[in-house]
Amino acid sequence: MYKAIQVSKDTWWTGVNDCETDMFESLWPLPQGVAYNAYVVTGSTATAAIDTVKGPYLDEYYNKLLQALNGKNLNYLVINHMEPDHAGLISQMKSRWPSLKFVGNAKTMPLLKGYHGIEEDIITVKDGDTLDLGGHVLRFSTVPMLHWPESMVTFDTSTGVLFSNDSFGGFGVHEGGLFDDEKVKERWEDEMLRYYACIVAKYSNVVQAALRKLGTLEIKNIFPSHGTLFRKDVKQVVSLYDKWSRFESDNGSVVVYGSMYGNTRRMAEAVCSGLSASDVKDIRLYDVSRTDPSYILRDIWKFKAFALLSCTYNTILYPPMEALCSKLLNRMPKNKFLGIAGSYSWSKGALTALQDFAEKIKLEKITPEVEVFTSPNSQDLEKCFELGKNLGGALA
Ligand code: FEO
Repeated sequence: MYKAIQVSKDTWWTGVNDCETDMFESLWPLPQGVAYNAYVVTGSTATAAIDTVKGPYLDEYYNKLLQALNGKNLNYLVINHMEPDHAGLISQMKSRWPSLKFVGNAKTMPLLKGYHGIEEDIITVKDGDTLDLGGHVLRFSTVPMLHWPESMVTFDTSTGVLFSNDSFGGFGVHEGGLFDDEKVKERWEDEMLRYYACIVAKYSNVVQAALRKLGTLEIKNIFPSHGTLFRKDVKQVVSLYDKWSRFESDNGSVVVYGSMYGNTRRMAEAVCSGLSASDVKDIRLYDVSRTDPSYILRDIWKFKAFALLSCTYNTILYPPMEALCSKLLNRMPKNKFLGIAGSYSWSKGALTALQDFAEKIKLEKITPEVEVFTSPNSQDLEKCFELGKNLGGALA
């Protein structure tokens, strides 16, 4: 994406592709990279940039911004979000455009001061306030805790563009076109859901409130700060967000196992066979040691049932499974069926820990719980099969 791209009337994409960062937030792998989408709206009387990009991309961002401005001054920087992947260049903006004013809400300002030492030339807006650029009136809506306290979205009342910040964002760089109608849906949807499960899911109730609040706007386009821009399937993408934040999911199951020597893996395979016997066709079997948790979280969000099977390690839950359980408890998925099973040799521990997890996560638990000493015998495997069959039965 080598130049600024016009994406609506007087509106330009000035973002960048990041193909170098391996881990988003140093947590989540980026096999397809990530895009930081930034924008500028050039009105007849004033111009406004909507967010910036991550720090290392200064030259690329400036070049695009200058192309889009086409000789005009930059009057405002609208700060929808202070996280450094979008706010990374704020400090540098003032030296390039000395008359620049920073637009944010009350929760933005302490972060603006903390990260960039900026306390002057700021315009503090409230929910519903507007900024007239001449032919383009920007309306600001605060969406606190989606996913930071200062998070805000900006709506151009003239074009119907919603600059939605992290909401509706996804992993993956732009590989040609920016828009949904220029890409294959399968390419962006999975990475959008993985982004949702990792970054946004904890705040699903806030997403629901935001959807209600923004539902009164006549949104024609949604331009997020990561991933695909939406102009064709706006209703469809809103309904995806609605579905994910209401914890509605597809008929299918995830089976995750933590296994050192293959015994718990055999138990997990028996659960999968039971699911299949119940006519469940979409089954995802994951080794928790070898599959990044972001993909497991994504599919737990996608499907209605999941099973966790773990060996015991040093009297407690196998560490990668413990880490997954911690991530799930942080996000608290709802409306799903859960199966659990543990194995042990010289000390019990895994099943007790999974029972504790099941208690805390408050999902409907499907029986039987299975606990296996050393390696599973045929009766143990039949019990695991029964667990899978019952999970599948719950889906029917
Ligand atoms: Fe993409 Fe919350 O920053």
